Amino acid sequence: MPTYKTAIVIGASSGIGEALVRQLAKDGVTVAALARRADELERVQREAGDKVRIYAHDVTDYASVPAMFDRVKADLGEVDLVIYNAGVMPPVAESEYNFEKDHAMIAVNLLGAMAWLNPVAAYMEARRSGTIVGVSSVAGDRGRRGNPAYHTSKAALTTYLEALRNRLSRYGVTVVTVKPGPVATPMTKDLGKLPLIIPAEQAAAGILAHARAGTVEGYVPVAWWPIMSVIQQVPSWIFRKTNI
Ligand SMILES: NC(=O)c1ccc[n+]([C@@H]2O[C@H](COP(=O)([O-])OP(=O)(O)OC[C@H]3O[C@@H](n4cnc5c(N)ncnc54)[C@H](OP(=O)(O)O)[C@@H]3O)[C@@H](O)[C@H]2O)c1
Repeated sequence: MPTYKTAIVIGASSGIGEALVRQLAKDGVTVAALARRADELERVQREAGDKVRIYAHDVTDYASVPAMFDRVKADLGEVDLVIYNAGVMPPVAESEYNFEKDHAMIAVNLLGAMAWLNPVAAYMEARRSGTIVGVSSVAGDRGRRGNPAYHTSKAALTTYLEALRNRLSRYGVTVVTVKPGPVATPMTKDLGKLPLIIPAEQAAAGILAHARAGTVEGYVPVAWWPIMSVIQQVPSWIFRKTNI
């Protein structure tokens, strides 16, 4: 099992990302916490302690990513673990087809991941070690009716991470895809009752357990693995009649 001295969490100002920062800091890891809301990052730093360094950053400012990564690397020394957790999921109504919302989800959930994980991959390939974790979702396992672009962004993220893994494993770099089911965070607070919903702390613990185990594609909680294995096999002509 790897032990991490340093980590970067991208999307760290609330929900799962905040819980990841807290747990890593508690384990003695020096963590760089990135997100747009500087005030929320300051709160996380105040509460999680002096292991946490904070950086206000918008992942859709793609051109600024290499300089931000260099700055964080210089502050941390080496980087053992990078978790791309930033994500958005605006509410989308039943018959709403809204390119602005779709664009926002692809911009953060997918392109932001590529903007960050390309330079991280190059760094870890050269270093011959490190762990990359992408927070995908069970939502990427099927194209469901509720939010087409969100499902697309997570399916594409899962495939991008698989390709990174196929590139990087020969260099001793671990790439882990984590697919949480519903988690109680600001993202889901207005969505009503969701199945098997878990607290952010439990999601973060599950993500870190998969990271340390080097899981290829891990569900959180693992009960989603048999459920999604069945859902993935449901034929399209049946699936489209369901409300899943
Ligand atoms: N909650 C669930 O049920 C669930 C299930 C499966 C997967 N996920 C995934 O888990 C991840 C975390 O979500 P969450 O539920 O914890 O929601 P959340 O509390 O809304 O957290 C989202 C995080 O992403 C950051 N972020 C959003 N846009 C950003 C941008 N342009 N630049 C930098 N950071 C940005 C936010 O920070 P700022 O707003 O401060 O920038 C925040 O820290 C997401 O990728 C989500 O898709 C969530």
